[in-house]
Amino acid sequence: MTDNTLIAVKPEIAAGSHADAERRTAMVAEATKDPDGFWAREMNRLAWMRAPTKIKNTSFEGDVSIRWFEDGVLNLTESCLDRHVEGGRGDAVAIIWEGDDPKADAHVTYRQLLERVCRLANAMKSLGVRRGDRVSIYLPMIVESAVAMLACARIGAVHSVIFGGFSPDSLSSRIQDCESTLLITADEGRRGGRTVPLKANADEALKSCPTIRNVIVARNTGGGVAMEDGRDHDWAELCDAQSAECAPEPMGAEDPLFILYTSGSTGKPKGVLHTTGGYGVWAAFTHELVFDYRPGEVYWCTADVGWVTGHTYIVYGPLANGATTLMFEGVPNWPDSSRFWSVVDKHKVNIFYTAPTAIRALMREGEAPVKKSSRKSLRILGSVGEPINPEAWLWYYRVVGDERCPIVDTWWQTETGGILISPLPGSVAQKPGSATLPLPGVFPALVDNDGAILEGATEGNLVITDSWPGQMRTVFRDHERFVQTYFSTFPGKYFTGDGARRDEDGYWWITGRVDDVLNVSGHRMGTAEIESALVAHPKVAEAAVVGMPHEIKGQGIYAYVTLKVDEEPTEALRKELVAWVRKEIGPIASPDAIQWAPGLPKTRSGKIMRRILRKIAANETDNLGDTSTLADPTVVQDLIGNRVG
Ligand code: WTA
Repeated sequence: MTDNTLIAVKPEIAAGSHADAERRTAMVAEATKDPDGFWAREMNRLAWMRAPTKIKNTSFEGDVSIRWFEDGVLNLTESCLDRHVEGGRGDAVAIIWEGDDPKADAHVTYRQLLERVCRLANAMKSLGVRRGDRVSIYLPMIVESAVAMLACARIGAVHSVIFGGFSPDSLSSRIQDCESTLLITADEGRRGGRTVPLKANADEALKSCPTIRNVIVARNTGGGVAMEDGRDHDWAELCDAQSAECAPEPMGAEDPLFILYTSGSTGKPKGVLHTTGGYGVWAAFTHELVFDYRPGEVYWCTADVGWVTGHTYIVYGPLANGATTLMFEGVPNWPDSSRFWSVVDKHKVNIFYTAPTAIRALMREGEAPVKKSSRKSLRILGSVGEPINPEAWLWYYRVVGDERCPIVDTWWQTETGGILISPLPGSVAQKPGSATLPLPGVFPALVDNDGAILEGATEGNLVITDSWPGQMRTVFRDHERFVQTYFSTFPGKYFTGDGARRDEDGYWWITGRVDDVLNVSGHRMGTAEIESALVAHPKVAEAAVVGMPHEIKGQGIYAYVTLKVDEEPTEALRKELVAWVRKEIGPIASPDAIQWAPGLPKTRSGKIMRRILRKIAANETDNLGDTSTLADPTVVQDLIGNRVG
């Protein structure tokens, strides 16, 4: 369903906004005509030790080289911390932490945050961590995760945050890939009244991570954990002994800031590499414009710091802009489903940014849990992670925002570093379900499967034709894979992996992935990863995983499993396989349905026809398309007959 209703810009939002219609038009024009001039101005959003003189130096051709602000020198933590403290805002609140337990919260000022970052930075140095070294971070949603990221940036170490919901196996493969020498973790995390055994998971993972020399353990729940002598250090003990000052390491704009592993359509997760200057500019620029952030406002992004949304829109963007950023340890439906709104009231949140899956889950509980809160402080509502269906959009707009607050449906990816397509609340009228228009300096296009550019109102593959500062620079230690993954399908263009439609008004509607990447509750996963986890089970011969429509999660995981000869397909084995995948990857990868498949639909050359499997999973079996190239067309009838769900 699409909805062509135009929801006009509210005059009270346009007034005093960072980008009213006139300013937006001027920015788009300038960023198109004179990118160097435009970005030479926008880069002043950051504090530079040496201002860049070279602005844009990028090519999507051949070996693909992306450099922005390349002769500039900076340390991003100065922009996020020191300059606010030095500018007289040291006592302003940088982070409001809201615990899983509704009675637990904390306020951390910019001055306190700077001090904590410096202490940890010094502690890391004392453990031998140097500029360029990789540090893995496996923490729950506690202030320490922001401190750990910033402390790495302070000394020029490259952080790799791993979502706390990942299993020991997923953690160890991400540590092995980047050969980090330090792991920062916590005793336990808390979510929805339960604890997550982070340190125990880490201990398990570290059995196969020889590069890790030290582990710093934050005491969060106080739960008892094993500490290995010489390797494991108590965060507080270590940091208390350090100086509260640590000079920021001068970094080149193109020096790495972080690696973040993300799933693609093939192989293991890729280490997406972001650098310092361009990413920092993009984070600050988009956070201010898209959320129309105004000084003094309280801003809350409900993502986890383990995902890119948490990096850019909990930590770097808001802190660069001197905002008060709220970090929430818990979940939307605990202790009850009005939690989000009671937190909004409690901390007077002005800007709220969440995922469609959360909205759909809350929508199912009805309006009452929302209506018992005031939500008067809210001014802007945001959505990210997956397409938002118009029903959920309208509910968010009407019920949560009382039709007062514009909704910014923000399209972007781990690879893009920050938002690329989104309404700017001061200037762009919205349509429920559309991400509307590209930001200034972003040049999307639609191409057909042969790469020909499509004009006008149409649908196709979403590509970006020129670079923007926040773009990923490479896959960590695998530039070839970077070029192959993003620039070979449509040479000379960045391929997003998404499909999109552009309507008569030039508005963009993201239709979802066109590759083998799933988006389950806004969590991105490769079908290949889940398949290889299944095939690693001793009783499984073969597996094929596809997405299926899911009311709350957006997409569910549907797995076709062929067992080894002599293995019995039992309910017990089905449960065992679900548990197996949870253990191999993490709970977010649990299959929603497993269908026993005596055979999979393959072409004569042995390629699995996923198109057919997707249709069966979606229960759209009326028109399966051409099946004549199948080696054995009879398997299809068997699969249809035994569909699960
Ligand atoms: C999807 C998350 C539609 C898309 C920031 C993209 C969206 C993938 C939207 C990236 C949106 C993200 N509308 N789809 N507003 N935002 N997506 O890397 O398929 O975890 O390619 O980054 O999420 O997921 P990732």
